Amino acid sequence: MGLLTESAAWKALERNHRTVADLHMRRLFADDPGRFHRFSLSLGDLLLDYSKNRITSETMSLLAGLAREAGVEDWRDRMFSGEKINSTEGRSVLHVALRHPAGTWTGDDGIGGRVRSALAQMEVFSSSLRAGTWKGYTGKPIADVVCLGIGGSELGPAMVVEALAPYAHADVGVHFVSNVDGVHMSSALDGLAAETTLFIVTSKSFGTIETMTNAASAKSWIAGAMGEEAVGGHFAAVTANTEAARSFGIGADNVFPMWDWVGGRYSLWSAVGLPIAIAAGMERFKQLLAGAHAMDQHFREAPLEANMPVILGLLGVWYINFFDSPHHGALPYDQGLKRLPAFLQQLDMESNGKRVSRDGTPVDTATGPVIFGEPGTNAQHSFFQLLHQGTPLIPADFIAPAISHCRQGSHHSILLANFFAQTEALMNGRTECEARDQLKSAGLSGNSLEKRLPHMVFQGNRPTNSILVRKLDPHTLGMLIALYEHKIFVQGLIWRINSFDQWGVELGKQLATALLYEIMDDGAVGKHDSSTQGLIDHYRRLKANTP
Ligand code: F6P
Repeated sequence: MGLLTESAAWKALERNHRTVADLHMRRLFADDPGRFHRFSLSLGDLLLDYSKNRITSETMSLLAGLAREAGVEDWRDRMFSGEKINSTEGRSVLHVALRHPAGTWTGDDGIGGRVRSALAQMEVFSSSLRAGTWKGYTGKPIADVVCLGIGGSELGPAMVVEALAPYAHADVGVHFVSNVDGVHMSSALDGLAAETTLFIVTSKSFGTIETMTNAASAKSWIAGAMGEEAVGGHFAAVTANTEAARSFGIGADNVFPMWDWVGGRYSLWSAVGLPIAIAAGMERFKQLLAGAHAMDQHFREAPLEANMPVILGLLGVWYINFFDSPHHGALPYDQGLKRLPAFLQQLDMESNGKRVSRDGTPVDTATGPVIFGEPGTNAQHSFFQLLHQGTPLIPADFIAPAISHCRQGSHHSILLANFFAQTEALMNGRTECEARDQLKSAGLSGNSLEKRLPHMVFQGNRPTNSILVRKLDPHTLGMLIALYEHKIFVQGLIWRINSFDQWGVELGKQLATALLYEIMDDGAVGKHDSSTQGLIDHYRRLKANTP
């Protein structure tokens, strides 16, 4: 396979970019009253408007050509067929099987049956816990569930539990502890009673140091309050390492499966989503799965030119590779989605933060973007200045529900007014002429007007996608998450990388483990660079001098 940048599709896009880079979206909208209809798509309650992008119809058809040349349709079908497309780990990528209706996945590998039985186990467990019939060691119902996990074993379920808070059970609190910083655990436990608390340890490996350290502290907390015998009655686990969970002291009935064909960051659809089923109920968890499945079907069936994840993926490639714009904003105008940016950071950056192609040769283009974000309107008052007037071009996704769960006063109208106004302002900008008129009507003239003028001009032409849903319900949320999963997959395919491994993170884990022994024992320190050595020495002095 030749270089990506030498391919015919790439060269055609380079030519198109030379023309489009000089066009302003203001003009494109003025020239084409049908632009919104041309560049927007709906699936169920979810509308994607991508008309505020620096594209023409020709750009979009050339981008679709790039996807075709990259074999996106073929790779997509290979993923759905269960082929081991995660080549560096020799694994299938089948999170899509988890949301196939009622576990009816038809492979000859027993996956459908395993999914069905895990769903049944989740249903029994979550329903009895919610009904108060699942009792702790002293016979009291569970009032608080503390979920211990990190990365993909936390971000997905924590984000969804928060987003579906309006559906939460009134008497069972669901909390998450991920950081190994003891403050996270102690603040979560503050005010909880051991007798009515259940811990769910979620770790595919059951070996991640943060989760295991938190699990050990939780175990001591339970044992300290009720004795060692109580541990089994206050712990459940979600893991692919059942042996380790059993040795920890968790009974077989309370151990839920994970499988190697589901990556951590794609796992909220499995038993990793147990906290969601506990908080919002199993029916709602199934609606979440159904929403994701609807997006899967769309991804499988829609032509590339009208395929939402493909379009979002290609637009990302357009900016990263042709406009040299390595950042992407995730901006939910919904407080419930406040953890969406953090979730998307892992999903995108762990998937596409790669510099070698599937075949091990270095890539010849930029790959995964830096994802960042905050809910609107808070984000407007922190980093939007850079989006509007900074030197980098930063594309962003704006996401909002039309109907809020909270019907209080005018809050939602104000929120949505900002949602609409920001993308419009980013697109239109403010010309020198408009700025001059505004300053004049504010009473400025002469030298003071001229001095202020350059600061009041906004170039505009800043690209955004708007995703407007009817309401943030489980089905819609499922669609939204699956949309991003597939978008990221499409981008990985264009860049010819494996989006499903994460060797870079493994290195960090190994180094920290080696260093831990050195700093805990205050013993011999291994060979380090002078900076690391200086920091360790300083740390030891601080520790020694602190009573
Ligand atoms: O952060 C790296 C990572 O391997 C993620 O991919 C994964 O989601 C996380 O650690 C947690 O791993 P585990 O579920 O095995 O504890």
